[in-house]
Amino acid sequence: MSTNQDRIIIFDTTLRDGEQSPGATLNVDEKITIARQLARLGVDVIEAGFPRASSGDFEAVQKVAEIVGVEDGPIICGLARANFDDIKIAGEALKPAAKGRIHTFIATSDIHLEYKLKKSRSEVLAIIPEMVAYAKSFVDDVEFSPEDAGRSDPEFLYQVLEAAISAGATTVNIPDTVGYTTPAEFGGLIRGIKENVPNIDQAIISVHGHNDLGLAVANFLEAVKYGARQLECTINGIGERAGNAALEELVMGLHVRRQYFNPFLGRAPESTEPLTNIITQEIYKTSRLVSTLTGMMVQPNKAIVGSNAFAHESGIHQDGVLKHKLTYEIMDAESIGLTTNLIVLGKHSGRNAFRTRLTELGFDLSETDLNKAFLRFKDLADKKKEISDWDLEAIVKDEIQQPPELFRLETVQVSCGDNSKPTATVVLTTPDGEELTDAAVGTGPVDAVYKAINRVVNVPNELIEFSVKSVTAGIDAIGEVTIRLSHEGKIYSGHAANTDIIVASARAYVSALNRLYAVIGHRKTEEGRSSVVVG
Ligand code: KIV
Ligand code: ZN
Repeated sequence: MSTNQDRIIIFDTTLRDGEQSPGATLNVDEKITIARQLARLGVDVIEAGFPRASSGDFEAVQKVAEIVGVEDGPIICGLARANFDDIKIAGEALKPAAKGRIHTFIATSDIHLEYKLKKSRSEVLAIIPEMVAYAKSFVDDVEFSPEDAGRSDPEFLYQVLEAAISAGATTVNIPDTVGYTTPAEFGGLIRGIKENVPNIDQAIISVHGHNDLGLAVANFLEAVKYGARQLECTINGIGERAGNAALEELVMGLHVRRQYFNPFLGRAPESTEPLTNIITQEIYKTSRLVSTLTGMMVQPNKAIVGSNAFAHESGIHQDGVLKHKLTYEIMDAESIGLTTNLIVLGKHSGRNAFRTRLTELGFDLSETDLNKAFLRFKDLADKKKEISDWDLEAIVKDEIQQPPELFRLETVQVSCGDNSKPTATVVLTTPDGEELTDAAVGTGPVDAVYKAINRVVNVPNELIEFSVKSVTAGIDAIGEVTIRLSHEGKIYSGHAANTDIIVASARAYVSALNRLYAVIGHRKTEEGRSSVVVG
């Protein structure tokens, strides 16, 4: 990693800290799909997971390192607590990466030392250089984080950082683990580090923060002014509790206001050189992908990627925008890759047109997946006259990006109306290949379908979220259903799209149950490894 300090390094932790959002659990294939898209987006570093946490995490980091961590690709990073086992396992997982980084951390705030680690400051100060040096025996690129830096004594923090850098840390990351600091305080902390850590010019200063008070992005932008050059963030701001700083907000903040930030990076104010390597036109697509695969919906009014972010409702605003866009718009929807809803294909479009459009949309499908998606497209074209990019995206995601089909929904049938009891009959194939039929009565058609499916799958669970939204306007629109269910305190999500929302609801439920079933099935393999979650 160069210590070039005149641009901002984007460190994406969607697959590590983001995946720690309740219910956002991703399987290995889904992590690879996201990592590929993060590489297309142009992130500099992908934190792919915490290899010591579970065998699934180890495999995901290893696969991402192998498939995405190629010579001209991003740096692949693995998290490790400051102990020999974690660091060794992270080193092994990262071996296939052309550029691997170990990110090791230990808490430094008095509250964490006293109650969590039960260690003195001098004990922690001794562990840090030893563990950084150990990480260096696996990779040259080592990042060190003093966890809960935001609430640590700055004088102690300076000593900790100096020791980490002397032992070879190339990046020192300053986490506001509990999202407690304000922008002025966080900027001041970075300024203090710059002024008081004697060897700070030998490392990149990074920042990491949670959004408990909604201040993470503001804190980071202030930190940039005082010397932070790496920002740790997640797509859509997903993450532990209220989430992490949102990548799209940071990147577009730095992009739209680059004339304001340029001088802090030693550039002329009028310079138009981008401040990050991010290809902003890939932002929207990445946001959609992460939202679909994690089941974490994006709120409509979310900055940059929310469905209302570029919509003008009031007459005064609409009139202004029609007269001159800049009256009410500070950035183009196109700059984040939000194209107008083009009508692209229809009933008579052939395989070639279909394949070409999918490639243009960034989908790189195998021949088998392309065939499956094409059949779905033809089926859709029979029901819907005009098919847009968004429809294509929805059917490809529905057909291809699903967890392994342990249970398969064969048919679903409902009968409902204002004078009848909603009743559903479902046919499912079980993981053993047996075809089972069951029926149930519910308070509504979806409830009846879910009860019937539960009778077959027979794993206790509670539905905690159900949402349906249409992909495009019109009576023939595709409906996308996202659900989250909980089982023994863990949350599993499911997603499906269909012109029939009862079918989409049933498929989304089976998809979440398949995720749950895969975990129950793998529990035995996981035994023996501690399951560790950090902020
Ligand atoms: O929030 C935090 O402190 C973390 C560290 C592991 C960097 O995620
Ligand atoms: Zn964190």
